[in-house]
Parts: sequence; C-alpha cells; structure tokens
Amino acid sequence: MDIPFTAQEGQLFEHIARAAKSLGVPCYLIGGFVRDKILERKTKDIDIVCVGDGIALAHRTAALLDPGISVAFFKNFGTAQIRWQDVEVEFVGARRESYRANSRKPEVEVGTLEDDQDRRDFTINALAISLNEADYGKLIDPFGGQEDLANKLIRTPLEPERTFSDDPLRMMRGIRFASQLHFTILPETFDAIRKNADRIKIVSQERISDELNKIMLSPKPSVGLDLLYKSGLLKIIFPQMVDLVGVETMDGKGHKDNFYHTLQVIDNISRHTNDLWLRWAALLHDIGKPATKRFEDGHGWTFHGHDAVGGKMVPRIFTRLKLPLNEKMKLVRKLVELHLRPISLTKENITDSAIRRLLFDAGDDIEALMMLCEADITSKNKAKVKRYLENFELVRERLKDVEEKDRIRNWQPPITGEMIMETFALQPCRQVGDLKTAIREAILDGVIENSYEAAYQYMLEKAKELNLTPVK
Ligand code: CTP
Repeated sequence: MDIPFTAQEGQLFEHIARAAKSLGVPCYLIGGFVRDKILERKTKDIDIVCVGDGIALAHRTAALLDPGISVAFFKNFGTAQIRWQDVEVEFVGARRESYRANSRKPEVEVGTLEDDQDRRDFTINALAISLNEADYGKLIDPFGGQEDLANKLIRTPLEPERTFSDDPLRMMRGIRFASQLHFTILPETFDAIRKNADRIKIVSQERISDELNKIMLSPKPSVGLDLLYKSGLLKIIFPQMVDLVGVETMDGKGHKDNFYHTLQVIDNISRHTNDLWLRWAALLHDIGKPATKRFEDGHGWTFHGHDAVGGKMVPRIFTRLKLPLNEKMKLVRKLVELHLRPISLTKENITDSAIRRLLFDAGDDIEALMMLCEADITSKNKAKVKRYLENFELVRERLKDVEEKDRIRNWQPPITGEMIMETFALQPCRQVGDLKTAIREAILDGVIENSYEAAYQYMLEKAKELNLTPVK
C-alpha cells in the first residue's frame, strides 16, 4: 500500500530515517498517525517507535533537522518530543509492558516492534510504517488493522480482557473511536468492555472526562453515549444520565424515555454546532426530570420544576466530572435553567414584557438558547415538528423586534446600587438590593419607561414605602 506523505512529512521522515540509520536503530511511524493517514483524515501528532533508545533518536533527529530545536524528554518513560515547524513528534523505544492489577504504573521492558504493536489498544492503532532503508514506506500490519479500517471495526490486537486490564481507559477509547469514526466494536471486544466496566474506577477522572468530551464532540455523540450506557460504563462514570433511562406507565399513560430523547437532542444540536458546551447543555437539559417526576391524576406524568432542579445539578455534575467550574459551566447552567422559556413564549398573546424578560435573562446567549430549544423538538410527527419550528420562528421575530426597540440584551438598569446608596446615604444592605430589583422589574414589565428620569422617580416612590428619605 502506498501511503502518500505531504512534502513536509517526507522531509521530516527522511531526517528521522537518516538519524536512525546513523544510530543503527530500526524505526517506524506508528499509531494514530498511520490510522488517520489511511483513513485520509487530518493527522495530528506523529508517533515514532524505534528498536533502541528513543531519546537518543530524538536528539540525533533534532540535530539533523535544525540544531536550534530543543528536545523535551522523560528519562523514566524513555520518551522524547520535538516540535518542528507546526508538527509535534514523539519518540519512544519499543516496549513490552504490563500493568499491575491495581495500578496504572506500567512495568516496562525493552522489546521488539512486534512486542510494541502487541501492547497497543486496537488493531487500527497498531499499524506501523517502516522508515528503514530496506523497506521504507512499507506498512507493517500484524493484526489485520488495515482490513479492520476498511470494515470499520474496533478490535483489540490481543485477547480483549488482557488489553483492557493493561489500561481500562481503553474501554472508553474504543467507544470514543466508534463514535468519532462511526465504527462498530467487535461483539467479543464489546463483551469484554461489559465484563470489565468496573475497572474504569482505577482510572483518573481527568482521563475519563477527556474521553467523554471527545465522544461529545464526535459527529453523532449518541453513538458513543449509547455504547457507554449499554456497556455499563455510564452507570459508573455518570449515574445521573442513567437515571433518565426508561418509561413508566400508570393508568395506561406512559412518558417518553428521557435518555433516548436526550441523545436525540444532542445529535440535533450537533448538526448545528461544534461547541462542546452547547452540546453539554443538550446532554443536561432534562437532567432534573427523574427528581421531579410525578404522576398527577387526570394529568398524567409531569416534571414540574425540572429546569430549575436541573440547573442546580449542573455545578455538582461538573465538579464530580472535573469539568471547568468557570463561565462555561455557568453557560450550561443558564441554558438548562432557561430551556423551557422560549416554548412558553410560543403561546398566543405574549406580551412584550415576557419577551424583554427572556432577553434580559438570556443576554448574549439567546441564540444558543433558541438553538437548544429547536434541538429539543424530537417528535416523530412531522406536522407537529413543523408547527413547533414555525412557532419558534415567530418567537425569534418577536425577540428581534423587542430587542431593536428596547435594547435589553446587554442592558443594565439606569440606576445602579451605588447611586441608590449615595441618594439615601445607605451602606450596602438588603434595602439597596430591593430597590434595585424593583426598578429593574418595573422596566422589564413595562410599568415605567426605560430611562434614567423615569427610574429615578420610581426609586423615590418606592423608597418612600420603605421610609427612606433622599439626602441629596
Ligand atoms: N495507545 C494505547 N493505549 C492507550 C493510549 C494510546 O495503546 N491507552 C496507543 C495507540 O496505539 C495510539 C497511540 O498510543 O494510537 C497514540 O495515542 P493517542 O495519541 O492518545 O491517541 P491516537 O490514537 O493518536 O488518537 P487521538 O489523537 O485521536 O487521541
């Protein structure tokens, strides 16, 4: 098989080959780079394995390429990295490796190329390309990785139990590749994931969440999320999601399966955005449903307040998953909290004040919120979907009109807390907050106009009720 390298790659690999020859160590391209080349995907980092000292090879290569290049190396792991132009190259000596049962710390021994391919996670990641003079460019594929790529199959090179016990994160990696590449996991391999799911507990949360995020960023995240569920991994790493599974029936009335509904919402939003956090908002939008589920006679199933309850769960979930607790989390929380609001605005006779209030609460995230709401329409009834979408179109128009008129999106009320404190000689206290809120609400409700003058007069009136007298 002829694998075309770019001019830049060709130049780089020739230098590596020369360096390896001068040291007398055979060397090979390996892993994700080879896989992605064959799949004609965009390649990222380049991994080189050599039968010998990887750190020495990195130094020799750097010296040949450009003596100014620095080599970062880790003696304990026998790995070294260089950056040349915009490519990152990692060098490692071929290893045999086995992991002790309760630890991620490998015991490493020097090995052959074959040993090194054996210890890799999947056949599609165990492909190597020779950079040696005798067979430069030859694909070395002891496990049929090329065929598995063609058949879109995820399979371990060795017996799966062994591969997964070497590093349990590989169970998630397998599912991640299935989701990213739209591949199938071989049933035998998947069975081993199911059996060993519990061992994911020895893996650090950061590595787990890294894989979860890659699944979330895949073209159709439902593929990976459903596999996580079916393998039993989801129950361990993210039990709140599994609480969404299932349909209960009472008096002949069922509700939809909120897990599969959620997966569809993520797929829907993923067609419109690659933003990880908007996808997280889709994943979590109904997370408050299990806690708020009730059966009301005459009504059927209700989930009152699931938006607020779900919003409160967001920081807890982010903490547990070690996701950032910054403005990204706040965005997800806000979208979960607000996700029912645009729907309530599709009813007739919606006042400007209701629209203003949503613009104020959503601020610059109004577009993201509308996108989530549209993704949330998962009815199979085409006429219904059409009607919902048309209604949202009307909401969008109203939002645009009211925004043009009132400029509420990034609006701050004309009277600040400082102004209130100065006017009434107050220290920061509850009354200041009450006055501020009263002014803001009056403007949003359209009771007074959005101007400094009107707000000032209103403040004086309200202050009188609180027995406050202006000092200036
Ligand atoms: N690898 C492995 N087991 C792991 C991690 C990595 O066997 N738990 C091997 C695989 O051969 C993999 C290579 O190391 O191809 C490089 O790993 P990494 O850079 O993490 O992944 P890629 O396969 O390159 O894929 P991606 O960049 O999409 O994560």
